[in-house]
This record gives sequence, C-alpha cells and structure tokens, in this order.
Amino acid sequence: MTARPFRPRRSVLYVPASNDRALAKLARLDCDAVILDLEDAVAPDDKAAARERLRDLFAEARPGCETVVRINALSSAWGTEDLLAARGMRPDAILLPKVESARDIADAAEALDETDAPAGLRLWAMVETPRAVLRLDDLAEHAREPHSRLDCLVAGTNDLVKDTGIEPGPDRRHLVPWLMQIVLAARAGGLDALDGVSNDFRDTAAFAAECAAGRAMGFDGKTLIHPAQIAPANAAFAPSQSALAEARAVVEAFAGPHNAGRGVVVLEGRMVERLHLEQAERLLAKAARIAEAGS
Ligand code: COA
Ligand code: MG
Repeated sequence: MTARPFRPRRSVLYVPASNDRALAKLARLDCDAVILDLEDAVAPDDKAAARERLRDLFAEARPGCETVVRINALSSAWGTEDLLAARGMRPDAILLPKVESARDIADAAEALDETDAPAGLRLWAMVETPRAVLRLDDLAEHAREPHSRLDCLVAGTNDLVKDTGIEPGPDRRHLVPWLMQIVLAARAGGLDALDGVSNDFRDTAAFAAECAAGRAMGFDGKTLIHPAQIAPANAAFAPSQSALAEARAVVEAFAGPHNAGRGVVVLEGRMVERLHLEQAERLLAKAARIAEAGS
C-alpha cells in the first residue's frame, strides 16, 4: 500500500448533471470537490441528456476543484456508457454507486484499463447497501493492492436507511456503527472516508452538529447537497486553532535539545510519545495543504 498525497476533501458537493443553474454556479463555489451526478439526482428520462451536458461542461470549463463524476451502476442500462463518457471527460475520479464487493471495483478498473485510462484516474466507491457494509474489509484489501485505483469511500446514508428500514434516531445513533465501520475500512485500506449528506439543508444548527460528529468519527469530510453547507463543512473539517496550537507544542517539545532522542516526554503534565509527534506533524501538514489550496 503506497501512501497517497493528502488532498483536502472537507466539503464535497453533489451537483445534479441535469441542473443547468447548479452547474452554472460551479466556478463560484468554495468546496474542495464536486461530484457531478448522473445517478440518483437525475431522472431516468434525463440520463442521456445529462451525460451530454457534462461532456460539454468538461470541454468548455472544467471546475477548478477536484472533480468527480458519479455514474450509474455498471449493471444498469446507463452504466457502461456513463463510464466510457466519464473516462473521456478526464475527471479526477469516477464515483461508483451501489458497490457491493471488490469485484465491482475491479470490473470498473478493468474497463478503464482497457481504454488505457491514466493511472491518475481514481475510483471512489459509495458504501450504501447492507452487503457493502458487510464486505468493507474486502474493499480495504482491494485498496491495498499496488495498482488499485480506489481512493475514497463515500457513505450513502439515504440508501442505507432505505435498504435497512432503520430510523437513524437522534445524533444518527443507529447509523453510527456502520459509519464507524466505513472509517475503519478506509483507514485499513489507506483511503479517505466521506460522511453522508444532511437532507435538511435549511437547518444550519443540525448541520453544524452533524459535521462535528462526522469529524469526531474520523471522516475526512462530508458530502453535501446545497451550497449553503460548504462553509460550515470547510470550517468543521479543518484542524481547529486549539488542535493546531497543541500540535505545535508537541513538535516544539520534541525539538528541545534536552528531549533529543527521547521516546516520551511530559508536556503540561501529560505523557506525549513519538506517535503523538507523528500525529501532530500530520495535522500541521494538513493545515498547511488546506491553506495552500486557498481557504
Ligand atoms: N450545486 C450547485 N448549486 C446548487 C445546488 C447544488 N447541489 N443546490 C442548489 N444550488 C443552487 C440553486 O440552483 C440556486 O441557484 P439559483 O439561485 O441560480 O437558481 C441556489 O443554489 C439556491 O438554491 P435553493 O433555491 O436554496 O435550492 P433549490 O430548491 O434550488 O435546490 C435541492 C434544492 C435539494 C433540489 C438542490 O440543492 C439539489 O438538487 N441538491 C443536490 C441533490 C443531489 O445531488 N442528490 C443526490 C446525492 S444525495
Ligand atoms: Mg445512493
């Protein structure tokens, strides 16, 4: 498993490929990534036209942020044509819906390899069915293969709720065990993990709380449905000022001449080990990358 370079993915906005007004907004949005959607957000009768609209969009003005195209499942009537069209658009990644096993990822990867798609074209996977959650370890193992294109797991919470019949409950408490499994599998496979969407885009307080919970669960960012959700997600998934101050203190503690070569030091009455140094350095690097990316 090779370490992937860090890319901020705090705010990842779904944009229906059939919505001209939404597509026209892309250049002005401050999200880290967009998912141009050909799947759930596009009605069956609009699928072909939406695909053509995306082709035009990529030909005329590619969005400046990381760009992902969500295709229909390869098993559907539109999937294969979507995959070939998306490959031609040269997005950063293609998002596969309803993934149920590593086989689904391998099938898409093989189809891309057959068209000599560049290795840099990544695959993202929606985890949104009961079988996908049960087979997360399979996805993580696949991601560890040397030439795997898999890059990111995306929680599809609306479909998970639909397929399981659960009521998420306060603080999504009945979804949390599966969300945590997604984060765990992502870490095992060296992948990013994105939290599911909040449908109630007018409830800003609930959204902020859900972002904070997602971050505490270890997600790298959140998938969004509305531009109003971008700024709060960017804030919530960036390292906080207090976390950065603490990280700097840890780095300074180990840098002091009296601590050179020590495995463990005491900082304000707390034990700090070299693993904390590593964690602090990673957090500072993440903050630097976010600053570089310009927000
Ligand atoms: N991406 C880009 N722009 C968006 C947007 C999105 N996801 N959602 C809304 N906008 C734009 C609207 O087009 C509107 O622009 P306009 O003033 O130029 O018309 C502006 O933001 C304000 O939108 P608003 O009126 O508040 O919402 P709406 O009623 O137009 O749209 C939704 C509400 C939920 C239908 C819309 O946000 C949406 O389609 N979201 C994505 C749904 C999706 O992709 N689902 C699949 C994955 S879960
Ligand atoms: Mg879905």
